[in-house]
Amino acid sequence: MSKSPDSESQLERMEKIVSLAKRRGFIFQSSEIYGGIGGFWDYGPLGAELKRNLRDTWWRTMTRDREDVVGLDATIIMHPAIWKASGHVDTFADLMRECTITNKRVRADHVEPQSGSVIKFIGAKSPNANGGWSIDRVFTVLMKQGEHIESFRKRVRLLLTQNAGIAAGKPDEIELLGEERIDVVTDSVDFHPETGGLLNEARPFNLMLKTYIGPTATENDIAYLRPETAQAIFAQFKNVCDSSRVKVPFGIGQIGKAFRNEVTPKNFTFRSREFEQMELEFFIKPDEAVQLIHGSVAIWSEGADLSEPQPNWGWEMWHRYWVAERTAYYAGIGLSSEVLDYTWQTKADLAHYARACVDILFKFPFGTEELEGIAARGSFDLTQHQTHSGKQLEYFDEELKAACDKLTAEQKSTFIAEAYAKRFNPDTTLEETMAFCEKLFKGLYIPHVIEPSAGLDRLALAILANSFEEEVVTDEKGKSEMRTVLHFHPRIAPIKVGIFPLLKNKPELVAKAREIVSLLRPHMAVFYDETGAIGRRYRRQDEAGTPFGVTIDFDTLGEEKPEFKNTVTLRERDSMQQRRIPIAELLPFLLSQIL
Ligand code: GAP
Repeated sequence: MSKSPDSESQLERMEKIVSLAKRRGFIFQSSEIYGGIGGFWDYGPLGAELKRNLRDTWWRTMTRDREDVVGLDATIIMHPAIWKASGHVDTFADLMRECTITNKRVRADHVEPQSGSVIKFIGAKSPNANGGWSIDRVFTVLMKQGEHIESFRKRVRLLLTQNAGIAAGKPDEIELLGEERIDVVTDSVDFHPETGGLLNEARPFNLMLKTYIGPTATENDIAYLRPETAQAIFAQFKNVCDSSRVKVPFGIGQIGKAFRNEVTPKNFTFRSREFEQMELEFFIKPDEAVQLIHGSVAIWSEGADLSEPQPNWGWEMWHRYWVAERTAYYAGIGLSSEVLDYTWQTKADLAHYARACVDILFKFPFGTEELEGIAARGSFDLTQHQTHSGKQLEYFDEELKAACDKLTAEQKSTFIAEAYAKRFNPDTTLEETMAFCEKLFKGLYIPHVIEPSAGLDRLALAILANSFEEEVVTDEKGKSEMRTVLHFHPRIAPIKVGIFPLLKNKPELVAKAREIVSLLRPHMAVFYDETGAIGRRYRRQDEAGTPFGVTIDFDTLGEEKPEFKNTVTLRERDSMQQRRIPIAELLPFLLSQIL
């Protein structure tokens, strides 16, 4: 949910970012030479590198650097029963409304309030087009406050010819019939934001994209392109447990494509129809199991130490821990706390099974919007898949079994009574609580899950927006110019270092520069550039977000100043400071900055 209104300068900033993204090869419209396709985007040479670096930082932080998380790489198309079990077939829908003139769709919660006069027409005709045509139905359009009646009529004629194939011919030839002002509205959400046409009632629209498996293409062959990567993790939970010697608490992380037939894709790549998610399902013991093993459960309170996971943590500590971990991750790639915000869902907003959910938001130029959601989902997902697949997805916890074996019958009864009194869902019956506890006493439970779920494309957009700056710089001669710079953190910058021989027609300089390229290329993305004045070459790399530039000049050759032999100029993008550094120190220095 957007938190701040758009401002003129912010929208202008966004336009500049979109334009730079295309000009420098970060992001292109998909299928652009055919007019584009709404909600799909391609990443150009710099964008592909940026995205790959972001993906790698997530994977490293969330899986490789941790002992308690493993990875998964599942298929995009899975058994359709998975989406029935997860609830996506029945409930993964947005409320959608349709323009009654053009059939253009809009998400019900994306209709901006509009004011003006409601104008009804009883039809339209065009005597000159292909022998003439007419529309014999009533249609209603909003004439926006401040809109001139003649411009309005022109707009309506255009609507009829340009949209939904209602009419053919030239707009000027259309005669609008029975024009009548029937109402004046203020802040109405009943008109399409683009066309102004009256909207019909809201209807649910399932967001999953369908396809068919096999050659017959009947209803029985329907499959879905996954709308999230998470469900594959639940579906493969047992295989991962059986093959990987993991012990709860542990997580399974996955990065991959997801598809949603968004009603109104918008804000550049922010809401796309094809995008990439980076999701972790972190499985934890139910609080009751923690209680049985440790005699108490650590509950979160303000100021709680979240630095190191502890065996007696309950779900809330784990949830808060992951919010802190994810916040630290964002700080590590340049998104500090000043540009982030958090929305905690209230109890009333939460899904019936969820215990907590927080959205991490980024302050995009078009508003403060969700970057990642972190949900405590209880045991809902695994329970659903256990029920629908008929396969046991319970986890056997040796530690729990050992602890329960020491309990007397009386202690077990007391535990059941306490568990019933503290049950999360008031609808849970005593019988259900007893059955759950009896399983626990045998060491069995369905793990609960904490789910940090982030969007890679949204993150790339946030990084672009956060890094973009235009600044006026003045050189030693007092000449000022505008510098466009992307302040990417070196860790995620598409190109880490630009290599520039001072002059391209001096073979000794070029050879030395090529030597440095060969030295660095096995370790990082480098860009060799020998054309144009050195200042222009710096600017080109500033705009690409390259954090370092290395210039090879005559001092490098040490002909006049032997003390500078085998040194180069290292320029730092943000400060534009330059210093001399021995070539031998280049690689260790750059590696220390980018890892
Ligand atoms: N498994 C949980 C889940 O999918 P979500 O909030 O629907 O939760 C998680 O999606 C993240 O995926 C979002 O925070 C966002 O970053 C990204 N995302 C969702 N829909 C998107 C879209 N249409 N375009 C781009 N990114 C999207």
